[in-house]
Amino acid sequence: MPLVLAIESSCDETAVALLQGEPGQPAHILASEIASQIELHRVYGGVVPELASRNHSLHLRPLVEQALSHAGVRLAEIDTFAATSGPGLASSLLIGATAAKALAAAARRPFIAINHLEGHLLSPFVELGHVPPHLALIVSGGHTLLLDVAGPGRYQKLGSTRDDAAGEAFDKVAKMLGLPYPGGPEIEKAAATGNPAAFDFPRSMMKEPGFDFSFSGLKTAVLYTLTDRQPATGQVQIGDLPDLCASFQQAVIDVLLRKSLAAARHAGRQTLALSGGVSLNRTLRGQFEQACLQEDLALHTASPGLCTDNAAMIGFAGLLRTFENRFSPLDSPIDPNLPL
Ligand code: KG4
Ligand code: ZN
Repeated sequence: MPLVLAIESSCDETAVALLQGEPGQPAHILASEIASQIELHRVYGGVVPELASRNHSLHLRPLVEQALSHAGVRLAEIDTFAATSGPGLASSLLIGATAAKALAAAARRPFIAINHLEGHLLSPFVELGHVPPHLALIVSGGHTLLLDVAGPGRYQKLGSTRDDAAGEAFDKVAKMLGLPYPGGPEIEKAAATGNPAAFDFPRSMMKEPGFDFSFSGLKTAVLYTLTDRQPATGQVQIGDLPDLCASFQQAVIDVLLRKSLAAARHAGRQTLALSGGVSLNRTLRGQFEQACLQEDLALHTASPGLCTDNAAMIGFAGLLRTFENRFSPLDSPIDPNLPL
């Protein structure tokens, strides 16, 4: 059974995972280690690239050792070494990809460059072990993408965001509301006791043909609501916060859900898959579950540990590539704007 060591370092999480599996069988995650930098970047309200790459260099080697010891595996037993090669922050990608190439060269084993978005896309299928044809919605901090997936490596983009990603909108609105970074979980928490119909926020691009998204108008609508209500400080009154968060969250979910269902119908797919950090949102998951039940669609979601950035999803993509003997040259570049 092939054994893959995977490294993810595209943004602010340093992650190392070890996966083993056979074609068509559930993949075994032997270790999945993460050194989160969230606390480090929180004081700046977002990710600082130079700090991120410096911390990847600090944490990577101990994480590799930790993963090997948790899994009870020796470096010499690893068959392939995978790493995220894009998209992401150049200086962060370089650390993980270079480390994986060095390990591969030293062990005389193949290196596999993985697209971070493909990692997210495949993450709902780790436990299944194979990837059925489906309609995929990737909703993360950097991307909002609808793809028609015929199988592994066979992706057709149907739509993406024209401005902010859904997670980015959560983060920016949270910042306006004085909530800490990352904003998604904070907004979800505050929204729990709020009325999602309290504020009538826009659902952008619903009437236009195609499957593109836009979230910047919604963000601006929240900003105008805030300044209208509290012109002097821009601070929301505490009583309004749950209603505001619930209404904003519902506007995002409405657009994501309706576009995903329409895209699934358009592509003739019976299965829908959700991945990326925003797919952790329980209200979003609940509404997708209900809608898919009504529309007779099968829904696959990534398990919570596989939604935000992690190396197990990169390892699963690496495992599928290992089955096909599709490897990357050691001089393959990183690409901060790598498309899927
Ligand atoms: O997939 P991810 O870790 O990073 C990227 O690859 O971009 O996603 C991080 C994003 C952040 O924008 C964060 O606010 C959002 O996912 N997020 C959430 C929730 N948990 C994380 N958004 C809404 N509700 C959540 N519970
Ligand atoms: Zn990601």
